[in-house]
This record gives sequence, C-alpha cells and structure tokens, in this order.
Amino acid sequence: MAETASAPEGAPESEETRRDFLLISTVAVGAVGTALAAWPFIDNMNPSKDVLALASTEINLAPIEEGQSITVVWRGKPVFVRRRTAKEIATAKTDDGATLKDRATDASRVQKAEWLVLVGICTHLGCIPLGQKAGDPRGEFGGWFCPCHGSHYDSSGRIRKGPAPKNLEVPPYKFLTDTSIRIG
Ligand code: FES
Repeated sequence: MAETASAPEGAPESEETRRDFLLISTVAVGAVGTALAAWPFIDNMNPSKDVLALASTEINLAPIEEGQSITVVWRGKPVFVRRRTAKEIATAKTDDGATLKDRATDASRVQKAEWLVLVGICTHLGCIPLGQKAGDPRGEFGGWFCPCHGSHYDSSGRIRKGPAPKNLEVPPYKFLTDTSIRIG
C-alpha cells in the first residue's frame, strides 16, 4: 500500500497561526499607521502653550488716567481700554438716540460707564483704528477713526460713518476688583 505523504504533525495549526499572525500584524500596522498619520492633525487642534497663556489677559486699570487709553493684546488681537471722561460718557449716552447703523445703547456696551473695552479691529476689513494715542485723529464722533477707508466710531465704539458695518466688538471680560479686569 502506497504511503501517502502526510503533513508533519501540527503543520495545519502552524499554517493557521502564521496566517493569523500575518493578518494581525497587518491590522496592527494599519492601526498604528492611521494613528501616526492622524497625529499631526490631532496635535494641530490643540492650542499651543503661548495661545493658552493668552486665553485670558488681566489688566491693572489703576495707572490709566481719565481720558487715557491703553492697548493690550488678547488672543493675538489688540484690545482698547479707555477710561472715558464724563463728557465722553454723556455724549455716548445722548447718542443712543442718534441714527445708528448697528443699534446698541451705550449701557449695553459697558459694565461701568467709565471703562470702555473694545476689540481694536475695524469691522470693515480689519485695520486697527486710530484714536488710542494723544494726538491721534479720533474721527468725527470722538471715538476712533479708521484711515483705511474712512470709518468713524463714537465714544462707545459704535460705527457712525463710513463703510464698516458693525460696532467695534466688546470682548468678554469681567471686573476682578474695582481696578482690574480679566479679558477672556
Ligand atoms: S478697514 Fe476700516 S474702514 Fe476699511
């Protein structure tokens, strides 16, 4: 009787194990490959340390005198903080009744009438308006003037004349004490 060649004992099991191993390796490499490929995107979505550090900005208001403005940087944007004079406050309140392109009362734009806090970016095409430094033109309404295309903002940061469609934005902020605020 002819002897049939038989596989060495355990061969089928080895073949199967080898196949399984190859399959598992492929899946594992695929998974690692996907994870590695995704990492730059995932990592990209995390804010960098310097951005996190500037997520909020605290400002000591004590050195700012009446009529003075300062500019601070918050999340890469200029923020204007102006300590308004009594006259500027009175004008801003009176102008609540004026014809306003982007209607808002002065009271809705400040937490304390003396302090006006605004993102210093023109709402037309993003220039930084003038009016922060002594001697800067403040436009026809005593607030800020954007020379790029001639937008005039009043002493509440509301758009009054020119192509800008919106008032200067009021960022989120809160008073920590009577003389300090945190923006963001
Ligand atoms: S960017 Fe300010 S008026 Fe155009």
